Order: sequence, then C-alpha cells, then structure tokens
Amino acid sequence: MSTQQTVNVAIIGGGLMGREIAAAIARWPALIDHPVRPRLTAVCDINPAALTWFEQIDTVTTTTTDYHDLLTDDAIDVVYVAVRHDLHEQLYGDVIRAGKSLLAEKPFGIDGPAAESVLAAMAEHPESFVRCSSEMPFFPGAQWAIRYVQSGALGTIVRANNSFLHSSDLDVSKPINWKRQTQFCGEAGVMNDLGLHGWHVPLRLGWAPTSVYAMLQNIVPERTGPDGTPVPCDTWDNADLHCWSEHEGVRFPLTVSTRRIDPGQKNTWEFEAIGMDGGVRFSTKNPKQVEVFAVRDIPGIGKEQAWQQIDVGSQSVWPTVTGGIFESGFSDSILQMWAAFLAERAGELGDRFGAARPEEAAHTHTLYAAAARSNEQGAAVAVPPLG
Ligand SMILES: NC(=O)c1ccc[n+]([C@@H]2O[C@H](COP(=O)([O-])OP(=O)(O)OC[C@H]3O[C@@H](n4cnc5c(N)ncnc54)[C@H](O)[C@@H]3O)[C@@H](O)[C@H]2O)c1
Repeated sequence: MSTQQTVNVAIIGGGLMGREIAAAIARWPALIDHPVRPRLTAVCDINPAALTWFEQIDTVTTTTTDYHDLLTDDAIDVVYVAVRHDLHEQLYGDVIRAGKSLLAEKPFGIDGPAAESVLAAMAEHPESFVRCSSEMPFFPGAQWAIRYVQSGALGTIVRANNSFLHSSDLDVSKPINWKRQTQFCGEAGVMNDLGLHGWHVPLRLGWAPTSVYAMLQNIVPERTGPDGTPVPCDTWDNADLHCWSEHEGVRFPLTVSTRRIDPGQKNTWEFEAIGMDGGVRFSTKNPKQVEVFAVRDIPGIGKEQAWQQIDVGSQSVWPTVTGGIFESGFSDSILQMWAAFLAERAGELGDRFGAARPEEAAHTHTLYAAAARSNEQGAAVAVPPLG
C-alpha cells in the first residue's frame, strides 16, 4: 500500500506556466519514493477559453473564472499562482489568508512593498507553507555546480556570475504584452521577469551582495499596441548588475545579468564560479555538460591549467526512473522544483536544494531597487543585508 500523502493542488492562472505545471504533475510517477502524491483538482482563469485545455486532465473536477471559489474549497491544500505581477500581492495574500500553501511565481509581488505585504500575511498564517518558483537551478548540471562550490573546491574565490539570457525581443515587430509594460510588469522590468532565476543560487550560496553597480537598458521603447499603433514599451530590456559579495570571508565580484535582448540566446541560464584552486561552469545551452577547472599533472607534460568536461546525466534533487545517462530539460527542472517544494512542505526535503524561499524572493526587490538607484546615479550603491 502506498505511504504517499495525497495533496490536492489548484492552479490560478492557466496560461503558459499554469499548463507547464499541470504537465509536470502528470509526470509525477517518474519520481522514486517521493513522500507526496499531488493531484491537480482545480483550475481558475478569468479567461474561460484558457480553461478548456485543462479538460484533458482527468483529476481536474473544478474549473472556475473566480479564484475565490478555490479558496473556500476545503479539499484544496496547495495553490500555484501564475498571473501578472500587478496581481501577485492580492492573490498571494488571499491564498495565504485562506490557510492554503502557496507556490508563488516570481517576482513575488510587483515591487518591494508588495513582497513585504505577502511576508506580513505569511507571518499571520504560519500554517501556509510558501515558496517561490525558480526552476533553472534544478537542472542536474546546476546542482553539480552548486555542490562543487559548497564542497570548498574553489579555494579563494576570484569571481562568479549567474545570468539568464533571452532574445525573443530582438523581433521589434513583436506586439506589446503585459510583461513589457511597467504598470503590469513593474518598474524593475526584465529584473522582475528574469531576476529570481539569476539570484536564487547566489542568495542560497550566501552571496547576497553588499553593493551593486547596475547598467539598465531600454532598447526598444515602443511596440505595436492592440489597435496597430505604437505604444510605449517602458520596461528595462536588459539589466547587468555588478556586485560585491563575499564567499568564505573573501570579497569578490559577482555579476548577475538578465537580458531580454541578447542575440543568440534562448532561455540560457548560466552559472560560473572561479577560484584559485578550482572553477565550475554550467550553461543550459549545453545541458549535458559541466566544466570544472583545476591545475593538473598532465602525463608527459607537467602541471598545467585544465578545464575538464563532464557529462552530467539525468539525476537532480529527487531521484527518478529516468536512466542515469539520459538528458535533462526544462520540463524536468519544473518537476524537480515541485518535488523539492512538496517534499519540503512535508518535512522530507532533508539537506537537498529547495525552491526559492519567500525572504530570498523578497530580497530580490531590495536588489532591484538598489540597481535602479545605481543606474540613475551612475554609481555603485550599498545593498541592505538579506533578512
Ligand atoms: N518560472 C518560470 O520559468 C516562468 C516563466 C514565465 C512566466 N513566469 C511567471 O508566471 C506568471 C504568469 O506568467 P505567464 O507567462 O504564465 O502569463 P500568461 O499571460 O501566459 O498567463 C497568465 C494567465 O492568468 C490569467 N489571469 C489573469 N488574471 C487572473 C485572475 N484574476 N484570476 C485567474 N486568472 C487570471 C490570464 O487569463 C492568463 O491565462 C508571472 O509571474 C511570470 O513572471 C514564470
């Protein structure tokens, strides 16, 4: 008999990410000995057409256009919310106040005050377990890179960077959408969109910066509106944040870049950390491969600097039935993030890597506000500590 605890899940926002999460839950049997068995039972979207896709999921018994219907349903344990950033504060707060657990989407509120208001709701409802979505660190290669750094193999750190790079906005004829408008996306622009992907690992490694020098660019200031005429596209497209951080007591330069326009890149997440004794690199551009650096004794040659390439295989935070030599992808990273989220909620994550914590997600807004000040002043600005 299965000892798995059944957890009923609801989705609010059946768009791009809502569908992705439904598909991940449907692949749950791929996980080995997970303590929880999620069932997607309910979906809400204000657009009834978005709900029709979910009819093919057998376990879905409720579809609605009003999310309040889900919050009064005692059978629902966990809610995943994937809506526009200007709606986060209200919806996240309402889910938490209803006593449900929440997997929120980034950026965890449109700005710092919105994130603080969600944290305040959490403080009043400790029964609500809350984490924020950031799946890229669940690629097996990213997990190896994290474990390499945590092993102490870098020695004295020299530098590190973590970036998330897109280029769909290279197409200037792409019409405006909510992610390109400050009123819906937020003043942080691309940082709100892509930033947590680049900050989850640095913050978890204890690398919260003490100062930031930011270079923010709005490269395409207008896009075609719904009636065919140009409207302002007033969000930052690219953000390069050059920071001072600390690793094992040593100050080092940490760069986090988030770019909507980086020609040649399509959802590329890359991490690199270099030290005097070792180095590690991983990029989703080549998801099978992790590179590690060391000075090695090469037979017949002597001591030389060497980058070695290692194929990483399929296994990440939670073991799966997938053959160990097989390749991993975006959908696998979503499944692994959910495995970590629900295991942690059940108190069974142990020392495995977990989904982004609310205080980490909220801290990214402190970083973005400092980045905005830095960009305005053309100077480095101090960043308050995390927590
Ligand atoms: N983790 C990731 O990799 C990732 C990727 C893309 C987007 N996101 C985040 O996910 C969130 C949603 O982005 P998306 O790309 O899925 O957006 P989307 O526009 O594709 O989908 C949003 C859906 O929410 C619905 N909606 C709007 N208001 C609603 C309400 N009050 N109640 C219920 N449904 C409502 C819309 O009709 C739409 O179907 C954002 O926070 C975004 O930053 C995360």
